[in-house]
Amino acid sequence: MTAYLNGQTAVITGATSGIGRSIAGALAKQGMDLCLIGRNQKKLTHTLKDLEKTGSSIQAYVCNLESIESIEHTASDIIRNNPRVDIVIHSAGNIILQPLENTTAADLDLQYFVNVRAPFFLTQQLLSAIKRQKGQIVFVNSSISQQKAKANLSAYAASKYALMAIADSLREEVNPHGVRILSIYPGRTATAMQENIYKFENREYHADLLLQPDDVAQAIISALTMPRTAEVTDVSILPFNKS
Ligand SMILES: NC(=O)c1ccc[n+]([C@@H]2O[C@H](COP(=O)([O-])OP(=O)(O)OC[C@H]3O[C@@H](n4cnc5c(N)ncnc54)[C@H](OP(=O)(O)O)[C@@H]3O)[C@@H](O)[C@H]2O)c1
Repeated sequence: MTAYLNGQTAVITGATSGIGRSIAGALAKQGMDLCLIGRNQKKLTHTLKDLEKTGSSIQAYVCNLESIESIEHTASDIIRNNPRVDIVIHSAGNIILQPLENTTAADLDLQYFVNVRAPFFLTQQLLSAIKRQKGQIVFVNSSISQQKAKANLSAYAASKYALMAIADSLREEVNPHGVRILSIYPGRTATAMQENIYKFENREYHADLLLQPDDVAQAIISALTMPRTAEVTDVSILPFNKS
């Protein structure tokens, strides 16, 4: 445990699964108090009970990130229940792989709502609190934003490029207030989302050959705990095995 994060409060979206769940576990081990955001009460309760074993104080908030009302409601509950918010981690995300030709407005909207609009407005709602703490905001992006978009990814890639732009623009706005912004760009990571991608691609799935969610969490902690003379702005992290 580093003294740096101990006693701080973090808000995490997508905390019930994959990368978000690993980040929540890693931050709890750092002695942080956590506000977990998820849309499924049962999964949230299960995650909360599991993380409470670390001795950290854990709160759970049911929120459908497709809904602005739900985001506003959750943010005001978090602010009411917590004297401080130091860190926000945006990990929730959706991917629908398909050719542009078959993509419906609902498919495009879902990825835009969860991957772009939700982190944008949740950040907006929590920003005064984060500024008060000279805190940090982490956007879980994708290695797709550092490449040319491949086939079947137009809607998802567009959403992640947009998320990168939001992070970069926000950084210029809030650095003068002492707030640091990190975008992390993971490659294929062994989560439920990636398993579905392998199914779509009709490829055999070997979780052990991929980047692990805990690897991503470790990279985030290392960036968050940098001395205040430094800001890690962008972290690219890929599976070591490039097959
Ligand atoms: N896995 C990869 O290879 C990979 C690579 C690059 C980037 N990423 C990015 O990493 C992030 C985490 O992905 P993951 O791989 O950990 O996926 P995951 O295991 O499928 O987790 C996604 C999380 O987002 C939550 N979520 C989705 N829609 C939501 C909504 N409308 N309201 C509230 N929560 C919602 C899910 O909640 P439920 O548990 O209720 O479904 C889940 O907790 C995403 O932003 C993804 O784009 C993943």
